[in-house]
Amino acid sequence: MARHPSSRSASPAQRPAKKPKLSHLTSDDFKNGIFLAPMVRSGALPTRLFALKHGASLVWGPEMVDKAILHAERVADPVTGVISYNGKSRAMFTTHPIEKPYLIYQIGSSDPDLAVQAAKTVMNDVSGIDLNCGCPKPFSTHSGMGAALLTNPDVLCSILTALRREMPPEITVSAKIRLLPSREDTLKLVERIVNTGISALTVHCRTRNMRDREPAMVERLQEIVDFVEGMGRGIAVIENGDCTGWEDARRIRALTGAHSVMVARAAESNPSCFSSTPLQDVERTLVPSYIRLAEYLDNHWGLTKFCVNQFHGTHVDVRKADSKALRQALSTSKSYADSVLKEAISDDVSGKEEFDKIVKAIEARECGPRRLLLPAETVVPVVPPAPVSQDKSTHGEPAELDGVIVTPPGTQNPDPPSSNAPKIPVNDRLAYIPALVSGIDPATPTPGGDIGG
Ligand SMILES: Cc1cc2nc3c(=O)[nH]c(=O)nc-3n(C[C@H](O)[C@H](O)[C@H](O)COP(=O)(O)O)c2cc1C
Repeated sequence: MARHPSSRSASPAQRPAKKPKLSHLTSDDFKNGIFLAPMVRSGALPTRLFALKHGASLVWGPEMVDKAILHAERVADPVTGVISYNGKSRAMFTTHPIEKPYLIYQIGSSDPDLAVQAAKTVMNDVSGIDLNCGCPKPFSTHSGMGAALLTNPDVLCSILTALRREMPPEITVSAKIRLLPSREDTLKLVERIVNTGISALTVHCRTRNMRDREPAMVERLQEIVDFVEGMGRGIAVIENGDCTGWEDARRIRALTGAHSVMVARAAESNPSCFSSTPLQDVERTLVPSYIRLAEYLDNHWGLTKFCVNQFHGTHVDVRKADSKALRQALSTSKSYADSVLKEAISDDVSGKEEFDKIVKAIEARECGPRRLLLPAETVVPVVPPAPVSQDKSTHGEPAELDGVIVTPPGTQNPDPPSSNAPKIPVNDRLAYIPALVSGIDPATPTPGGDIGG
């Protein structure tokens, strides 16, 4: 379903939220943070907004193949402010101005000119452009994109160089790679990439041939960090692979020296994992809010359903039977309007109110991505934050304790997970398939695939 300009007129109360004050991102903004990874399908707009609400410092959008966005029509909804890049039959990419200061748009490309054209198409709605150099799936690598770039550094670097040259300085350029099998080859590649003038480099600590069920080789990151630091360009190195959330990100930073940590599957399971007190009982604390917000933003129902189906977490108060009933209601519902769904999620809060809460939380950042993690060398054992008093002015909004985002009171917040909490379950049923070329909309991931990136 493509979005089209709404005929509804905006009342003053409904006008899109004002943008937070923020000058453009620099390499420093990629440091000391915890980021939402690019995830096709799972990295939808409502997920990114929840991630920001609960403390993600920056959010990556799902990979889009360069040519796909060139054929899209940009449409802004005057009521909600949502911006959609429409393909022939549905929105290929949607965003909202409120996330722009924190949004990195990821491109799949094997061609500098196309990459630049794609970046120019979206650059007014995003803060940075990232190049996917890690997707190992044949549909990506066959056309020279994704992980194929790792063994074709001339093309990889020509794309980054072209992007840096053609993008205005306020748009950052970054890359996401995987490890190469040997240390020497990895460092050689990293050196070339850094010399293109990028602001940040994410390293998914697996090689192209590794399955995501194999543990990420985070121990290989320290030498990359040291190497990049030795180059003296101030570029941020971001760890990616197996991080379970805020507390674990601190452990990983201490272990690897990485400037920041990027989270994919743990955030797919619970977009509040960026908080030091992630939500528990997600069927009660997250799913209803998510659905209300997604409906308000006119997020495609099928996509919403897909994302909600990935949400899982610890149960404290929600009984198994209640959780099952909600999931059952979700699976039988055909649209947001379905009465079974409406009954299951209750409408005591409107989607507009959910959105306003997010806007308030994001605007409270004042400027720049929030510094969430202590510098690696000063990482100390995490002390559970003091309970946030319900009668303070937070009123259900994210509270801050010494710069740490704490999930709002009144939402069944748990103690922070222990650092030896079990790793998130392997979910290699999920594949991500980037938007195809020439205005053909993204295909649905097929079961049985492995993750990419
Ligand atoms: C559903 C899904 C979609 C993904 N889509 C992308 C993508 O669009 N671009 C990308 O670079 N990586 C993508 N990845 C890979 C992740 O960004 C990340 O590199 C990988 O999952 C390892 O991080 P994790 O251990 O935190 O999950 C995807 C992963 C998943 C699970």
